Amino acid sequence: MRSRLAVVTAAVATLATVALAQNVAVIKERQDHLEAMGKAVGKVGKMFKGEDDFDLGKVQETLKLIQDKVAVLPKLFPDDSKTGEDTEALPAIWESKKDFEDRFAKLADAAKAASVAITDEQNFVDEWPKVVDNCKECHKKYRKPKD
Ligand code: HEC
Repeated sequence: MRSRLAVVTAAVATLATVALAQNVAVIKERQDHLEAMGKAVGKVGKMFKGEDDFDLGKVQETLKLIQDKVAVLPKLFPDDSKTGEDTEALPAIWESKKDFEDRFAKLADAAKAASVAITDEQNFVDEWPKVVDNCKECHKKYRKPKD
C-alpha cells in the first residue's frame, strides 16, 4: 500500500513539474513577443514626440510587426499560464477571455487601417494614437500596474 502510494505521489509530482514547465515556456514566449512589439512601438513613439526624425518606412515596418505579433499573441494565454515567470497578466484575462481576445483583434484592425492611412508625417501624427491607445486600454484592464 505504502509503496503504491509513493508511486502515485511521484507520478503526480512529475505531472505537476511538466505542467509548470509548460507555463513558464508560454509565459516567456508571450513576454518576448510583447517586448519586441514594445521596443518597436517605443521607437515610433520617439518620432511621434518629435525626438526622432519621421521615417515612414520604420512606421510601416512597425505596423506590420504589430499585426504579426497580434496574430500569435492570443494563443499564448492558455489556462495553465496564469502564474509564474513574474507574469504581469491579471486573472481578469481568464474571466473575460472573449473581451481580451477582441482587444487584440481591435489592435490588429487599427494597425492595418493605420498602414493605409499613414502616408506622411502630418497624417502620422493624427493616426498613430489610434493604434497605441489600444495598448494602453488593454494594459489598464489586464496587466498589473507597475509599482
Ligand atoms: C489584449 C491586451 C493587450 C494589448 C492590446 C496589448 N498588450 Fe501589452 N501586455 C498585455 C499583457 C496581459 C501583458 C503582461 C504579459 C505577461 O507578463 O505575461 C502585457 C505586457 C506588455 C509588455 C511587457 C512585456 C515583458 O517584457 O514582460 C510590453 C512591452 C507590452 N505589453 C507592450 C504592448 C504594446 C506596445 C502594445 C500595443 C502595440 C500592447 N502591449 C498591446 C496585454 C496587452
